[in-house]
Amino acid sequence: MSEHAFSHEERAAVYRAIAERRDMRHFSGGEVPAEILARLLEAAHHAPSVGLMQPWRFVRVSDPQLRESIHELVEAERVRTAEALGERSDEFMRLKVEGIRDCAELLAVALMEGRDAHVFGRRTLPEMDMASVACAIQNLWLAARAEGLGLGWVSLFDPEALAALLGMPAGSKPVALLCLGPVQAFYEKPMLVEEGWATPRPLSELLFENRWGSSGE
Ligand SMILES: Cc1cc2nc3c(=O)[nH]c(=O)nc-3n(C[C@H](O)[C@H](O)[C@H](O)COP(=O)(O)O)c2cc1C
Repeated sequence: MSEHAFSHEERAAVYRAIAERRDMRHFSGGEVPAEILARLLEAAHHAPSVGLMQPWRFVRVSDPQLRESIHELVEAERVRTAEALGERSDEFMRLKVEGIRDCAELLAVALMEGRDAHVFGRRTLPEMDMASVACAIQNLWLAARAEGLGLGWVSLFDPEALAALLGMPAGSKPVALLCLGPVQAFYEKPMLVEEGWATPRPLSELLFENRWGSSGE
């Protein structure tokens, strides 16, 4: 064991947050105390980012009318997604895929404008800006689980329409709507598994040695 390792209890807590984090779409109203919301946003802001670019921007949606307009955007995209799914359309429409109206807090997360000026780590892989934002969201997600709060990542929206609603500058891009707040209970498994929509694959099928597809045996 490395001398830098956390204590047994601390390690267990980290792994527990990772294992018990769930994408939540059922919320029980209530509120997120300001000091907890501040902690969660600090956790997000501690994320790694390509070239220390910190490309994330957060918009807290506190205006109920704006929240309603955002819900309409998501609902429109839900219907378009169902159409695009063809034969699984009805099954998809029965799934709950967002909790925008029920969550205590709604946050929009976006990529900043002017990202082309950042070349370090992005010359061949410009999408590392998006990867950095995802790291920030994952930090927030895990911290929320540790605080006992649910979080659901919603990506069902037209980014241009959401950018217009939020008054975002040209070149920026919204990538997530985060529904955050108290929940009655956390799903034991991913909801898409509980609902029979998808089957997760075990790590052993996704881990290779030296050559893609090889288990090294
Ligand atoms: C980038 C990203 C976008 C997602 N968008 C949605 C979404 O629009 N609606 C939804 O219900 N879930 C969304 N999810 C949640 C996934 O469905 C969920 O993470 C997956 O089913 C595994 O479940 P778990 O997060 O509870 O482990 C998204 C997750 C990620 C990482």
